[in-house]
Amino acid sequence: MGLERLEEVRASFLADLERAGVDADAVERVRVAYAGRRSGLLQELAGGLRELPSEAKRDYGRALNELKKLVEERLDEAKARVAEGRAASADRRVDITLPGRRLARGAEHPVHLVRRRIEEIFLRMGYDVEDGPEIEDDWHNFEALNMPPDHPARDDQDTFYIGASHLLRTHTSPVQARVMESRQPPIRIVVPGRVYRRDSDLRHSPMFHQLEGLVVDVGITVGHLKATLETFLRALFSDDVRVRLRPGFFPFTEPSAEVDISCIFCAQRGCGVCSGSGWIEILGSGMVDPRVFEAVGIDPERYTGFAFGLGLDRVAMLQYGIPDLRQLFAGDQRLTRQFE
Ligand code: FA5
Ligand code: MG
Repeated sequence: MGLERLEEVRASFLADLERAGVDADAVERVRVAYAGRRSGLLQELAGGLRELPSEAKRDYGRALNELKKLVEERLDEAKARVAEGRAASADRRVDITLPGRRLARGAEHPVHLVRRRIEEIFLRMGYDVEDGPEIEDDWHNFEALNMPPDHPARDDQDTFYIGASHLLRTHTSPVQARVMESRQPPIRIVVPGRVYRRDSDLRHSPMFHQLEGLVVDVGITVGHLKATLETFLRALFSDDVRVRLRPGFFPFTEPSAEVDISCIFCAQRGCGVCSGSGWIEILGSGMVDPRVFEAVGIDPERYTGFAFGLGLDRVAMLQYGIPDLRQLFAGDQRLTRQFE
């Protein structure tokens, strides 16, 4: 017993505590071994005091007290580190019982769904799908389609102009002119796309979608037009839908017809959707006017053709029972999520 012994105990305590790290059980074992009331080393060292000669007692006692203080302090620090370590690992812990994070999944827009279905119907009938620019020149949107600058039919399609010679296309019909300019018949195409008019109410939106159809070949007649539209509309709506052609007017077709289908909501008994008439207007159509052929360089003596233009948004309204067409473009996910 003596100061050397105290020094040894101090060194081994620090080493043992260091080894225990933040392991709570190991720290507790160190505590018991050194500072335990019954058999801790410090207790034993205190017992050694009695055997010392009285001159040595004072120095030994003071050194022993310092050692006790050190042991207490270091044990407290070690316990604090243990508690901190627990808290930190609780933060890092992964709770594998939590549900995974859901990836937000987009939904296909109803107009898109309608467009794809219609494209598929025409692809099966041997048509190609074409497109054209939304910023169009006056010539393709109007002139080539037999609407010279002062033509009154231009007023039906309130136009967004971009400078003097360009505009946002008011219909998909300019793509007819573009395709016929660039190749000779036989032509069999559909053209879906965005179009723009200064128009806004329950059934009109300033941006909407049309799908144009064009067939040009030798010997194409009104019979082909009617049969094609009937086949298409039955594939789209249902086999028992009735199709009616009414005389109409478009500058680029002659004769022209507005096409109605029997009301799919009331089986023609009369309802709000068909305004009691039993019929719903679904598209415009007609035989390509010879003047259009002349404008785009196709021989009107040799070829005939038919064309039609359908509002895709109107079809989406009908198929999904959407009362206000503008809801389709409000960007409200409560609508689109219904189509996931
Ligand atoms: C035309 O745009 C012609 N180009 C269609 C055509 C093509 C006729 C080929 C003959 C040959 P119209 O302006 O009627 O026609 O528009 C066609 C369809 O677009 C309408 O039946 C309607 O379904 C839809 N439509 C028209 N304006 C709007 C609008 N503001 N919002 C939503 N749909 C509209
Ligand atoms: Mg119309």
